[in-house]
Amino acid sequence: MRKPIIAGNWKMNNTASEGAELVKALKPLVKDAKCEVVVCVPAIDIPAVKKAIHGSKIRLGAQNVHFAEKGAYTGEISANMLKEYGVQYVIIGHSERRAYFGETDETVNKRTLAALAAGLTPIVCIGESLEEREGGLTQKVLDNQIALDFQGIEDFSKIVIAYEPIWAIGTGRTATDEQANETIGYIRKRMKKVYAGKNVGRMRIQYGGSMNAKNCKGLMAQPEIDGGLIGGASLKTADFAAIVNFDK
Ligand code: PGA
Repeated sequence: MRKPIIAGNWKMNNTASEGAELVKALKPLVKDAKCEVVVCVPAIDIPAVKKAIHGSKIRLGAQNVHFAEKGAYTGEISANMLKEYGVQYVIIGHSERRAYFGETDETVNKRTLAALAAGLTPIVCIGESLEEREGGLTQKVLDNQIALDFQGIEDFSKIVIAYEPIWAIGTGRTATDEQANETIGYIRKRMKKVYAGKNVGRMRIQYGGSMNAKNCKGLMAQPEIDGGLIGGASLKTADFAAIVNFDK
């Protein structure tokens, strides 16, 4: 069985004190959660949020990590720096990083390997643009990301994939339950083929893109969908709690 994982991606929102307030309010609302609950916060919020989640089920995630262990990489943060602060998860290759910060399949792969080496769980984002979907290129785009982003990984039970159709991110336009289920099923099937014998069957695949308190039940009821990566709705305590408690 694959344990569902609901992760909030705060993006560049919440100062440290705002973030601490948010998780303090969230704690009692998610205390009976059966899924894994993660908040991926801006790096500078990590110490305050770590303190605020103490004694709860909420786990800590970051939004990016550099691939080098250390060195002359001004502005970057290493996997060990995250690890020492109790960070357990890190989002890698989010479409915003690919679109605005020059992230490539190659750097996604390097970051993923570095995160794994440090004992962090990478949440690797893949997905197609609207143009690609409408052009019938979804599978081709995914095949390419699958081939390049995950090279060298030996145990896929240690990673999470977030399937995020770019056209659904922050747009309020969610993939239908069937679309999301079908595409995630395709990703799983393809990965089992390309990375045979590497525990792909135990890898969790989330859906991401305008998932909210209303549509989460339908999406989470789909057999292929193992969780959600939540942007906008993770900034509202009650909404995020409702998603975490999708099974109640
Ligand atoms: P959204 O963002 O939920 O605001 O669409 C999802 C994401 O970018 O991870």
